Amino acid sequence: MQAELGATENELLSNVQEVLITESVLQDRVAALGETISQEYAGLNPMLICVLKGGYVFLADLTRALSIRHSIDFMAISSYGNATASSGVVRILKDLDSDISGRHILVVEDIVDTGNTLSYLLENLRSRQPASIRVCTLLSKAARRQTDIVVDYIGFEIPDAFVVGYGLDYAEAYRNLAFIGVLKPEVYS
Ligand code: IMP
Ligand code: MG
Repeated sequence: MQAELGATENELLSNVQEVLITESVLQDRVAALGETISQEYAGLNPMLICVLKGGYVFLADLTRALSIRHSIDFMAISSYGNATASSGVVRILKDLDSDISGRHILVVEDIVDTGNTLSYLLENLRSRQPASIRVCTLLSKAARRQTDIVVDYIGFEIPDAFVVGYGLDYAEAYRNLAFIGVLKPEVYS
């Protein structure tokens, strides 16, 4: 069992072409975002809505970087399945537990790529009458945007490459990497 796990880990790492954002650069940026958000939302008791599954690692670090009172909730929406291109088909797989009317909402995303997923999500959340709604994404691929949505907080702008780690997956693997890495194209093509 032990030997098998070791082999799997090495195989995963050997599929990473390069480290795009190191663990310490990630941690510094998340801390800075936490400070900014704490200042801008002081006294507002915001609700952070994490978009599953990709946002879970970022949310866990971001929430601990906040010095203000806040709550969290989760939503799961369908994305690509195992492919690496946006299908444009979005479906709610898990809805919020809480009522968000009158609340200050901060949507926490792993990555905004085409923006199609977020655009659908924002429209859906706006119809529930929150007091305000903003978006915080760890990563953004501005070059691939197909919608004119506003992203209020961006961790890093990245080039158009398929990335994994820190919550982001390929075929459900790599989410546990502490850094953001670029996957070798031969892995998914
Ligand atoms: P969008 O609708 O094209 O903006 O895609 C958003 C979702 O696609 C993200 O929440 C991710 O789950 C997934 N995604 C987009 N780009 C990548 C990537 O480079 N690596 C892993 N997942 C990605
Ligand atoms: Mg995904």
